This record gives sequence, C-alpha cells and structure tokens, in this order.
Amino acid sequence: MLSAMSEAPPAPFRLEVDSDNIVWLIFDTPGSRANVLGAPALDSLQNCLTELESRIATGYPVAVVLWSAKRDSFIVGADIKEIAAVDDAEDGREKSAQVQRVFRRLEQLAVPTIAAIDGICLGGGAELALACDWRIGSDSPRTRLGLPEVRLGLIPGFGGSVRLPRLIGMRRSLSMILTAKSISAKTALDYGLLDRMLPAEGFRTAVAATVADIVLRRITPGEPRRSLWDRLLEGTTYGRHLIFSKARARVEETSGGHYPAPMTAIDVVAESIQLPLEDALAREAEAAGRLAATSVCKNLVRVFNLGQAAKKALPAEVAGEAVEVGKVAVIGAGVMGGGIAELLAAHDIPVILKDIDPRALDAGLRHANDLLRQAAKRGIFSAAAARRKAALIQGTLAYDSFEDVDFVIEAIIERLPVKKVVLREAEQALPEHAVFATNTSALSVTKLSAGSGRPGQVVGMHFFNPVHKMPLVEIIRTDTSSTAAAATAFRLAKRLGKTPVLVADRTGFIVNRLLAPYLNEAGFLLEDGADVAEIDGALTEFGMPMGPCRLLDEVGFDIVEHVAQEMVRAFGERMRPSRALGILTSEGRLGKKNKRGFYSYSRRGASVDRNTVRSLSFGAAAAGSVAPDDIVDRCLLPSVNEAMHALEDGVASGAGDVDLAMVMGAGFPPFRGGMLAWADRRGAGAVRDRLIELQERHGERFAPAPALNRAADEGGALAAV
Ligand code: NAI
Repeated sequence: MLSAMSEAPPAPFRLEVDSDNIVWLIFDTPGSRANVLGAPALDSLQNCLTELESRIATGYPVAVVLWSAKRDSFIVGADIKEIAAVDDAEDGREKSAQVQRVFRRLEQLAVPTIAAIDGICLGGGAELALACDWRIGSDSPRTRLGLPEVRLGLIPGFGGSVRLPRLIGMRRSLSMILTAKSISAKTALDYGLLDRMLPAEGFRTAVAATVADIVLRRITPGEPRRSLWDRLLEGTTYGRHLIFSKARARVEETSGGHYPAPMTAIDVVAESIQLPLEDALAREAEAAGRLAATSVCKNLVRVFNLGQAAKKALPAEVAGEAVEVGKVAVIGAGVMGGGIAELLAAHDIPVILKDIDPRALDAGLRHANDLLRQAAKRGIFSAAAARRKAALIQGTLAYDSFEDVDFVIEAIIERLPVKKVVLREAEQALPEHAVFATNTSALSVTKLSAGSGRPGQVVGMHFFNPVHKMPLVEIIRTDTSSTAAAATAFRLAKRLGKTPVLVADRTGFIVNRLLAPYLNEAGFLLEDGADVAEIDGALTEFGMPMGPCRLLDEVGFDIVEHVAQEMVRAFGERMRPSRALGILTSEGRLGKKNKRGFYSYSRRGASVDRNTVRSLSFGAAAAGSVAPDDIVDRCLLPSVNEAMHALEDGVASGAGDVDLAMVMGAGFPPFRGGMLAWADRRGAGAVRDRLIELQERHGERFAPAPALNRAADEGGALAAV
C-alpha cells in the first residue's frame, strides 16, 4: 500500500518498440481525456528524446512515430495556464525558445519521424507535428488541424509560424493562422500539410505499413496541390508582396487596431521566410513572447477560460439528471424559431416546426433551409448533408405529432397571455417527461410556468439573434424548475455548440438587462445634442461591434421600447428610456425592419439617415456635441452599475458569468477581458466617482449601486463578486 502511494505518476510520454524496430513515441497525459503540451509533458518528451538519441546512435530504431493514446484526440494544444503565467516579453520569449529547442531535437533525429494524427490536432500539437518529417492523418471527421493562437492574442510560437509557410506556402499559412480555423484531413492533404490520409478504421496497422514504406524509401512525401495562380503568387517577389499587403489590409479592416497578434503573425511569416531556420525561430520566439505579455493576450485568455468554465458549470451529479433529447418541437416559425430549427437540424436533431400562420410557417421553413444551404456553401458540411438535415425539419400547423417530443422551444410573439395559452396547448399534446423552454427576451418565466400543469418542467432558453452565429444561450431556471429540466436545457445548448450560462429568473436575465441602460443612454445622448455618428463612432472605437444606435436599428425601436417598459416595471426609474424612442415609434419609425431607422442601408453599407435624426429635433435642449470619452462612459458605466445590481439580485452565480454573457451575447470586446474586468482596471473607486459625477450632471439613473459602493469602500474588485 505504502509503496503504491509513493509511486511517481506515469510520465506523459513513453516509448514502445515494435517488432519492426519502429519506436512509437506515445503521448498519454495521465488523468486527462486530452493531451496538453504543458511543462510536465515537455520534460517527459525531453527524456524520451535523450533516450532516442542514444538508441539511434547505437543503430536502432529505424523510425519514430509520434502517437496519441487518447481516443479521437491527438494533441489539443499548449497549456493555457502556462501562457497566462508569462510575466514579461523576455519571460515569454524564453519559454517559447525552450519549447522550440525541444521540437528541434525531434526534428534533428537521424531517422524518419512521423506524426500519426487521428483526431483533433491544434496549436502546439500541430507545431509538434510540423517538426516531424512526415504527417499522416486519419480520414475521421474528428481529425482536424489548426493553429488557433490568434484567438488568444498570440501567434504560433513553437515553430509553427516558421515551418508552416515553408511547407504549405504563405497564402494558406496566413489563412490558417489568421482565421484560427481548423481544417479537415482532406484539406490538410490538399494543402500538403498531411503527406498521407489513411482510413481511421485500422489506422495503427495502416500507419505501421506506411512507415515501413518510408523506411524502405518506397514512397515520397506528399506535395501540396497548387493552382498556377498560387504558384505565381508564392514564387515571385511581386506575388508575395501582394499576399502580404492583402492580408494586412484585411486585418486592419477587421481588427480595428485592437488586436496586435494578427498583424504580428503577418510580419513574422513575411520576415522569417527569408531567414535561416534558427534565426527565423528566434524571430518567432521574440514576437510570441512579446504578445504573451500583452494585456490583450491576458484578457483573451480570461474570456476563453470563462467560456470553458461555463460549459462545465453543471456538477456531474446534476448533469446526470438530464433527459435524453431525441426530438424537439419549435413553436413559432419567425426570425428566432426558423433559426433555432436550423440549428437543431444542423446538429442532426429531428425538429417539428409549428406555427399558426401558414405563410409564417413557409417563411420559417425557407429561412431554415436557406441557412443550411449557406452552411454547406461555407464548407461546414456537404450539400448532400444539408439536404439530409433539411429533411429533419417537419413543418406543421397542429399539435398532432407532439406525442414523442422530448423538448419544446417556444419562440412565439413576446406576449405573456399568448405564451401561456401555447404552453397549456402544448402540454396537452406532449408526453409527461417533455421539457418546455421559452425563448423570451424579458418576460417572467415564473409567471409563465404558473399556468402550467407541470411547472417543474418549464425553463427559459434565451437564444440570441442571429441564432446560428451568436454563441450564448441563457438558461433560465425558476424557483420551481426542476434540476432535471435545467440540466436538460443546459446539455441541449452544449450539444448545439453554444455556451450556456445559468441565470435566475429576473427581468431581462443578464444580457438584455445590462443592454437596456446602454441603449437608453444613446437616446439621452441624442437629446443632449450628440450625433448618431459620434455616438456609434465612440463605441465602435472602444471595440463594440456596432454602436448603440445601429443596435437599436437592428433590434427594432418597438421591441426595445417594449422591453424597456418591462425593465421600468421591474427596476424602476433608472431604466426609464429617453423620449427619443417614443417619438420615433409614434412616427412609425421602427428601425431597419421597415427601413426607417437611424441608418439607411444599401449594398455599399449603412449611412446615417438625416430624416430620422431631424425628426427627433430636441431643439434648444440639444446643446451640441459630446466628447467621445463622455459617450463611452455614459453608455457603458450604467451597464457596469446595473451588473452590480444584478449580481446582488442573484441573477448570475458570479461576475465571470456576467462578463462572459456580455462578450458572447452583446459583443463586448473580448480584448478588454470582460465588462467588469475592464471597469476593474479603472478601479471600483474611480468608477464610483465617475458615476457620481454623471449623476450630478445627468440624473439619478447614474446613482452607484449598493454593491458598487461596497466594492469601492473596501477597495475590492467588481469582477471578483
Ligand atoms: P417573430 O414575430 O419573427 O415570430 C413569431 C412567430 O410566432 C410568428 O411566425 C407567428 O406567426 C408565430 N406565432 C404567434 N402566435 C403563435 C401561436 N399561438 N402558435 C404558434 N405560433 C405563433 O418573432 P421573433 O423575433 O422570432 O421572436 C420570438 C420570441 O423570441 C419572442 O419571445 C422574442 O422576444 C424572443 N427573442 C427575439 C429575439 C430577436 O432578436 N428577434 C432575440 C431573442 C429572443
């Protein structure tokens, strides 16, 4: 017993020699479902390399195969905790250089090295594979290769930025590095990133046979498939100049100057391609180290970790109570219902889409089919798969096929009495175990469930528009919702590829509640004489994907007004909107949907519609322009303040969920690390002082929340609440 306790944990890497004298370098992170390249793995890899170097010096083995012992997963990447721990640029450079040295030893082994990739191969894992002489992939749909580092504010820093362009060319490398998207084994084979693709069934045996061919020099490495145009581009100075200048222009347009990693990646690829390998690696390490120490990287890592934590928010014993979902009914075939039906079908879940209006039903089915076709065009699945998935959606005007439905998502108009009727109708037709989730924007799920025969099975599931793009789903649990119902909704959201955040049933949940003061303030700013372009410009400059006026256009003035009324009823005067929306809706101006918003839209983009602004004419009260900093603070600090009210009301389990929800549901810029984390960098005291100043100038809606006051008094952090 004692000796068992004192045994060292198994090493992440081990060597196995087969009867053909091939060494299998096996990666098997102990106690984890996936292989992660952290310090323990690298130490262990170094030990294996030392042994391999001495064995090779004495004449065997004949080849080394890098192999993962994990099912469906090769290597998922570097250890993010270690990236987050980088202190400064020099520390980051040294860490990157250390790993590069280990990979270089693998590269310099005097026998052929082969990475055999079956399953996901990302980041540091892909870089390790790049240091091998050969890469063989399985044809499993789970085999995907990618370099997602820019998502964390980094560049591939373990040799990937250097080796990938030398292998597959600059244009494709930049596309992989800048989009951070992974590619299938088939695409990797076309790119020349894989040398061979072998059937997933019997992969190990097929790899061994191919390695024997490699050793006997019976086969040659794969060649990238390149068009004439590609060869011209890659092979001439002018062509290369064109590749890099196009990439730079695209990055400038999309990053708004807030994300340094993509531009650095372009610089490193452009410079290192001309340098000898060692110098190129040094250049890469310097750039990777510099990026790892930036606040942008730290902030992106924080948001990434929040997303990972949210997905694991259900304790295993609770998750176990979830009901198996085989078939789903979506009631209401409008903008949201059509989108949700598509999302379910895209994930191979049979759907009944129900409406009361045949034309609305047709439109909803068309919307879902169009989205599936678009996904096929973008290469997410094949055209044949899109047709198969479309056939999973069955439209109906009645409840006659509800008897084997396990889960309902109701997405009809936002009116409580109508939603109540639909809930009761559905319950008549549903089996006992079915869960009913309402996709409401701001209605009380508790009030809705009060009319239910089985309130335990009623929850909220708040999707965001457009459903296929927005990553967040708020899962609303009432005091009477059962754990099983909440767990079922949570698991379904995850199965649909979304990030679920559990919230309590308070008006507006997290996102709409925090967006309300933000959108309201745009109206007050207009009253004070700020211009639409100034308001939206200040917030897009801050990093929001669109300004509040543009967002008002997208959501629709009538909807925002309706939600605002709910907010005032629930939270009082601080949520009262400005006069602007009332004036606009009374004139029949509803936003983008009836082409009468703050902007007019054409193929060339959106431009401010002066008629809308003129119709507001607040006259003498409109005093002229407002400084950009004032605009940002007036829109965002009430949101921060409302987050403190909401946390005190127990809406979310913690500040991390608020920050995540605002990034994923409202587009708060991820490079700022979350709304409360952003406020913390100014300090709770400074935020409170600024709110008091705004309160004195503009009114009680800026009065600091009690929880904010407490944090300011105690010198605490808002993001730690
Ligand atoms: P919509 O107006 O586009 O669609 C509503 C659909 O429900 C229509 O097709 C209508 O015919 C149908 N309907 C009405 N009464 C019905 C009944 N008794 N039985 C079956 N179908 C019925 O509305 P939208 O925008 O899709 O919104 C639906 C729900 O989703 C609302 O509760 C809304 O607050 C919520 N929501 C909307 C978002 C948005 O951006 N549009 C975002 C998140 C939630």
